[in-house]
Amino acid sequence: MADCTVQVRMNGPLRITGPFDLTDQDDNAFTIPEGQAVALCRCGRSANKPFCDSRHRTEEPMFEAPSTAA
Ligand code: FES
Repeated sequence: MADCTVQVRMNGPLRITGPFDLTDQDDNAFTIPEGQAVALCRCGRSANKPFCDSRHRTEEPMFEAPSTAA
């Protein structure tokens, strides 16, 4: 079984459950421990990128994206 799980949320973020390490564009590092989840913005509207701040649900037009793997 994988240590890290990535779930594509319908019309929302990528929900990733640790353990894993995340590094942003400025090389700021985040260590996500086992069992803890973070949501990474997929809509581009978050004021706290790379993390989702739920704006995909509150700002019009609503964010819509296919979320089923083919
Ligand atoms: S996916 Fe939630 S703010 Fe972008």
